[in-house]
Amino acid sequence: MPDENKPAKVEDTVNRRQFFTKLGLGSLGIAAAGTAAFAYQFLEPNVLYEPSPVVNAGSPDRYPPDSVTLDVNSGIYVIHSQEGYFSLSAVCTHLGCLTAWKPELGIIACPCHGSKFKQNGEKIEGPAPKPLPWKRIWLNNDGDLLVDRSTDVPALQRDSFVRV
Ligand code: FES
Repeated sequence: MPDENKPAKVEDTVNRRQFFTKLGLGSLGIAAAGTAAFAYQFLEPNVLYEPSPVVNAGSPDRYPPDSVTLDVNSGIYVIHSQEGYFSLSAVCTHLGCLTAWKPELGIIACPCHGSKFKQNGEKIEGPAPKPLPWKRIWLNNDGDLLVDRSTDVPALQRDSFVRV
């Protein structure tokens, strides 16, 4: 019959001590790994890589005379008018919806709140506060049309068309 007043065996005490030592070291290891992960996230540059604002709209031959072509992915129109090629933003100046060309009406219309624009971007009606901005367009050395979505053409220069 074991004596309850007798001290525990030395081997049991050491095993318990080793267990708690390992448990403590394990906890410290997990805490250190978590700290390192957060430190790495904190020190890593938080940069967003955006696509280039310059869009290659391809050969002018793609655009028949008197056509308005919407590039949904780039949010621009390439317009081949009698004066030449020009480009408009397809993003409505009201709340940013993507507009659509309505060939049967000869207008650009916004599906969200009904703004309407002429083929040259001028507002006809609706809540849009401004016309659709013209975007800078030019021919590169390969003969492709390039459109810079980040550069608006000032209103006074809107007679500068690309002619091929
Ligand atoms: S977003 Fe185009 S009219 Fe409102």
